Amino acid sequence: MESPVAFVLILTTIAFADVRSQSIYASENPLPVGSNVTLYSTTPVTTGAWLFNNSLIVLIFPGNPAILSDRVTYNSSTSSLTLMSLKVDDSGEYALQDVAFRAKLMLSVQVPISNVTLWAKATDLVEFNDTAVLMCSVSSGSSLSFEWLKGNSTVTAGEDVHFSNGNATLTINNVTRNYQGPFRCNVSNGISHEISPPVHLNISYGPSNPMMMVTPMKDTYKTGSNITLTCSAKSSPPAMIQWMANGVYLDHYGAELHLKNVTEENSGDYKCVFHNTVTSRFSSANASIWVLDPLTAVVVKNIGGPAILNKPFTLQCEVTGTANTVKWWRNGQPVYADNTTVLDKNNKTLTLNPVQLSDNGYYKCQACNPVSNMTSSPYTLEVNHGPQMPTITGPKVAKTGDNVTLWCYAASYPPSHYKWYYNGSLVSNMSEYTTPPLLKEMSLKYMCMAFNNVTGKNSTAYTMLTVVDPIENVQVKAPGNLAEEGYPYNLTCDVTGPADHIYWMKNGEPLHEDNGTVFYMDNKTVCFTALEPDDTGYYKCMAANALGNMTSPPYKLLVNFGPETPMVYGPAFAETGRYAIFNCSAMSVPPSHYTWWFNGSMVANTSMLTVGPLSFNMTGEYTCMAHNNVTGKNSTKSTMLTVIEAIDSVTVRGNTIPINHKNFTLTCDVVGPYDMIYWMKDGMKLHMNDTTTNHSSYTYYHAEENMLLFTPVTVYNSGTYQCVATNQAGLHKSAPFKLLVNYGPLSVKITGPYLAELGSLDVSLTCSADSWPECHFYWFFNNQSNPLQNGSVLTFPVTKENEGKYICKARNPVTNITMYQSTTFAISYSKSAIHFSSQSLMFMGLFAVSASVLFN
Ligand SMILES: *[C@@H]1O[C@H](CO)[C@@H](O)[C@H](O)[C@H]1NC(C)=O
Ligand SMILES: *[C@@H]1O[C@H](CO)[C@@H](O)[C@H](O)[C@H]1NC(C)=O
Ligand SMILES: *[C@@H]1O[C@H](CO)[C@@H](O)[C@H](O)[C@H]1NC(C)=O
Ligand SMILES: *[C@@H]1O[C@H](CO)[C@@H](O)[C@H](O)[C@H]1NC(C)=O
Ligand SMILES: *[C@@H]1O[C@H](CO)[C@@H](O)[C@H](O)[C@H]1NC(C)=O
Ligand SMILES: *[C@@H]1O[C@H](CO)[C@@H](O)[C@H](O)[C@H]1NC(C)=O
Ligand SMILES: *[C@@H]1O[C@H](CO)[C@@H](O)[C@H](O)[C@H]1NC(C)=O
Ligand SMILES: *[C@@H]1O[C@H](CO)[C@@H](O)[C@H](O)[C@H]1NC(C)=O
Ligand SMILES: *[C@@H]1O[C@H](CO)[C@@H](O)[C@H](O)[C@H]1NC(C)=O
Ligand SMILES: *[C@@H]1O[C@H](CO)[C@@H](O)[C@H](O)[C@H]1NC(C)=O
Ligand SMILES: *[C@@H]1O[C@H](CO)[C@@H](O)[C@H](O)[C@H]1NC(C)=O
Ligand SMILES: *[C@@H]1O[C@H](CO)[C@@H](O)[C@H](O)[C@H]1NC(C)=O
Repeated sequence: MESPVAFVLILTTIAFADVRSQSIYASENPLPVGSNVTLYSTTPVTTGAWLFNNSLIVLIFPGNPAILSDRVTYNSSTSSLTLMSLKVDDSGEYALQDVAFRAKLMLSVQVPISNVTLWAKATDLVEFNDTAVLMCSVSSGSSLSFEWLKGNSTVTAGEDVHFSNGNATLTINNVTRNYQGPFRCNVSNGISHEISPPVHLNISYGPSNPMMMVTPMKDTYKTGSNITLTCSAKSSPPAMIQWMANGVYLDHYGAELHLKNVTEENSGDYKCVFHNTVTSRFSSANASIWVLDPLTAVVVKNIGGPAILNKPFTLQCEVTGTANTVKWWRNGQPVYADNTTVLDKNNKTLTLNPVQLSDNGYYKCQACNPVSNMTSSPYTLEVNHGPQMPTITGPKVAKTGDNVTLWCYAASYPPSHYKWYYNGSLVSNMSEYTTPPLLKEMSLKYMCMAFNNVTGKNSTAYTMLTVVDPIENVQVKAPGNLAEEGYPYNLTCDVTGPADHIYWMKNGEPLHEDNGTVFYMDNKTVCFTALEPDDTGYYKCMAANALGNMTSPPYKLLVNFGPETPMVYGPAFAETGRYAIFNCSAMSVPPSHYTWWFNGSMVANTSMLTVGPLSFNMTGEYTCMAHNNVTGKNSTKSTMLTVIEAIDSVTVRGNTIPINHKNFTLTCDVVGPYDMIYWMKDGMKLHMNDTTTNHSSYTYYHAEENMLLFTPVTVYNSGTYQCVATNQAGLHKSAPFKLLVNYGPLSVKITGPYLAELGSLDVSLTCSADSWPECHFYWFFNNQSNPLQNGSVLTFPVTKENEGKYICKARNPVTNITMYQSTTFAISYSKSAIHFSSQSLMFMGLFAVSASVLFN
């Protein structure tokens, strides 16, 4: 066997010749002392060595490897190395050396940590004075690292916090209350860790944050209130508290001070003093209390005499207690200082200078302090004033013999005393005075005097009274002669009594002077220079004086005139055998008498003239004459009458039966000469050759000579026709001709049931048709050629034999048009299966009919 040393030399010379991918790893790393570890290679090595800190442990070559330690085993097949009963010294670099490479790893063997203890140099500390020192140690363990915990958070180094002794010692300079802990230290290495039991530091601090709380919280307290003062501060151990009031120590200790049923003497500055006996430190907190008595009375007083208009007037507010503010109210509204309202510095005196009537009202004064608010009862101010110039009421004019009452009133407060004087003598010492009976035609002067005994003023007024007689009668007088158009005429107003003015009225309206109407003698006479018809009317005159007026009864003035040219009414043409009537009228007062003249003879002596029965020789001029027997005047008017031959009759006749869509003619027969004829339908004139829309169908009329042609006639032509013949004397209408156009049948309908239960009542089928005149109806059964029955209604019993088809034949006897309709009738057997109401049976019957129409 060759020397391993020589082999190692060989190996080292070739050590780094090849760098293939090769590594080693440990079964566990780091590890505790006493344990076993195996180091593996990723590829087996046939020639090489295991090295520890560059010292040979195993020499590898094919055959028997050389193992140089008794705590080592080597596995040739995997090239792995197992180290047993490890020691701390086995920590280091392990390498596997091949001819071509060297793979390395660092192995760490550690002692497990046990018995971690924490120790403080001192635990009772004073905030801001002391330094805290904490030390952490273990009974056993290697490769230690320390972590410090306060509560659950890690302590980090800072201004006042330092670590030393490989982090095993913690120093806190100038401790604060935040460093009470609990402190623990967490010691660890690669294989184990352990946390120490906690250590608490007892840090004394304070008193700090001193505070005083007052309940209830107020600026000012009312006498009798209860107040609680509460003090607090942060301090460890808790601070002792002693109370002071206004700088004097009270024999009171503890957090609370109760002030009960306070008086104004309890006002002042309150202080509590805190003392921490451990830190030997003091602090204090304070608060001010202000106690006030509430107001007990507020009264408004008048000082300096009564209120006299335009003089100064003063009110005072008397307050019992301390008032901060005083306010005045008038009639519920605040009073403010202005030009005439003066308030003193503290508002206690209100001066109205000068006082006005507008100052009247209820005055209140309100006083407030922080704990009360009081308002006086109202003071009523009524300003004394007046009297002003009196007002005298009563008549200005009176009748002889009357007693007149006069009233005097002057605005004044308090109310004035009154006196009446006549001719310098006192006649009454009241506001009212009634005269003795008055003498005729006097003008009397009365004086009233008013006196106010508070203001000491008086005032006087006069009134004049006139005594007159009343107007007793007024009449309109007219001269004896008749009033006639064109002649002058006078009306006179006849007055009994003294009249100052006369007025005229015609038909209720004032009468004014104009060209033909003139007033004379102070309006006593109205003169018409030449009467006109429209001067007719009702005239009244009114007489007036200071006492009143009187109006005459109406006088009717009737102006006679006329006749003017008459108006004549009557025909210009008239037919032989008839009568002509003429009327005549002419404007005239009084009404005229009338006469009628023909061919130089008088034919009537009334306004109406009837001529006839007429013959051709009655043609000519008829004259009406009107005569007024007051004015003696006549007036005439003539009219011309022409007698023509008469139309004797006008009749309408139809030549054939009118059938829808066939031609038809109406003929107008006139007996006598005529100028023209025309046609009317339903009272309206027909326009010929004119297509008009009527009932959504076209009707067309055409007249030839005396005939009206319908080509053809339709139902829309039905109606009442008249023919009108005219001549110069007028119209002749025929009697109405009723045209009823025959048509149809247009449709045929069967109603009745199509189904019935065996044994039920007889069944009826009814046939109807749209037609004029009414159709004749025939019923057939199941194609039999002979009719079953004539007439629109067919009734038969409900039997099996009557089941089948029913046919109705409808024939219009005038148009000769025939139409058919059919229905089937069946018997229903199941009594309970179907139940139809009569309405639904009817409906089904109708349905059957329409179905059969489709079949036909
Ligand atoms: C280490 O290995 C030896 C030999 O195989 C054994 O006797 C011992 O119990 C092992 N130790 C541990 C801690 O496994
Ligand atoms: C733990 O350590 C303390 C001081 O270092 C020592 O007094 C004590 O005996 C130890 N306890 C154990 C179980 O090692
Ligand atoms: C301790 O801390 C307080 C406030 O942080 C500071 O005012 C005081 O000067 C400090 N004292 C010392 C000795 O550092
Ligand atoms: C705190 O320190 C100050 C001066 O640093 C000292 O006067 C005082 O007595 C100390 N307080 C305590 C409670 O030790
Ligand atoms: C600290 O952690 C423990 C355990 O995780 C937990 O029970 C505890 O509530 C935590 N304390 C705080 C203050 O978070
Ligand atoms: C102390 O702890 C810090 C982290 O808190 C870490 O960065 C530092 O390495 C530690 N020092 C020692 C000596 O373990
Ligand atoms: C003050 O307290 C007393 C009893 O404690 C009570 O009778 C009285 O009504 C209280 N006064 C007020 C104003 O609440
Ligand atoms: C409150 O004090 C007044 C005198 O200041 C006394 O008359 C009254 O009875 C007291 N009320 C209560 C409830 O103590
Ligand atoms: C006086 O009265 C006026 C108007 O009412 C008011 O605004 C003012 O506050 C009052 N002053 C005092 C001292 O009461
Ligand atoms: C107050 O007097 C001044 C000047 O004398 C005048 O202009 C003003 O209108 C007066 N105001 C009232 C409310 O009378
Ligand atoms: C005084 O009392 C009345 C009614 O009680 C109230 O409307 C008014 O606001 C109070 N005034 C003050 C100043 O408290
Ligand atoms: C009028 O007055 C006189 C006395 O003054 C009296 O006698 C007479 O009755 C009065 N007449 C009437 C109608 O009042």
